[in-house]
Amino acid sequence: MFEFIQNLLKRLQPILVQSMEPHGMAILEHVKTNREQFYKHFVFNTNTTTVLSSSMYLYPLLAEKLTNVVLDNCKGKVLDVGAGGGFITLKLQDKGYKVTAIDISAHCVEAMKLLGVKDCLVSDIFDITEQFDTILLLGSTLGCIGAIDLFPVLLSKLDEILKPDGQIIIEESDFHNFWFSYEWEGYFKYKNYIGQEFSWFNIPANELIELAYSYGWHVEIIDTFDINQFDNPSYLASMTKIRRQ
Ligand SMILES: C[S@@+](CC[C@H](N)C(=O)[O-])C[C@H]1O[C@@H](n2cnc3c(N)ncnc32)[C@H](O)[C@@H]1O
Repeated sequence: MFEFIQNLLKRLQPILVQSMEPHGMAILEHVKTNREQFYKHFVFNTNTTTVLSSSMYLYPLLAEKLTNVVLDNCKGKVLDVGAGGGFITLKLQDKGYKVTAIDISAHCVEAMKLLGVKDCLVSDIFDITEQFDTILLLGSTLGCIGAIDLFPVLLSKLDEILKPDGQIIIEESDFHNFWFSYEWEGYFKYKNYIGQEFSWFNIPANELIELAYSYGWHVEIIDTFDINQFDNPSYLASMTKIRRQ
């Protein structure tokens, strides 16, 4: 009895893990068991509110529409950065694209492997050295750098791993009262696993266009997914380096 209570208490004790891991754990459990688990135990806590995380698995309507547009706009060798559960990676793979998925969360990568993603690895985008024709930053992954001020640091990394004439495809949340870039701190929690606090940002389309242009990149909005039709309004953009003659 005493041992039982001790084990129970152990399971309830908060365990601090790397910031993105509770997100990966939730996806992995979702893949291994069922969707309900994911919804029930996954908490995404920001300083202002508690909401469920963005993930293609949580927004089926958006995911379906987005997938088609992404597939129409991908070319060549593709890198899916922060691929999460590999939702889009698998669609690209099924269509015959040569696609590599990376995620900083080992649990996400384990989930992708279980789902059949052939080429996936645990990696920070900053550790990638190979070059690609298309780089995907979907589900607001652009903000993983943590602060708008660090945007040029991300751009120079992207420039390094993008082939000449390559493109970055970005999907960003576009809440309708959201006209300015928004930096925030938060943490993920899954069951008793609590991730370290992290910083993130979201950027609306108009601001991304201006900011990227000031660093020599051209942003074109490919599509928008509005709030009336989809469960998570967002926009899809293509970003290319301006090559001056
Ligand atoms: C908001 S989720 C988006 C997941 C997926 N792209 C989607 O749209 O469903 C962001 C993902 O980026 C990963 N991530 C965060 N920072 C990263 C980094 N520096 N390098 C690679 N992946 C990162 C997280 O683990 C997480 O799975």
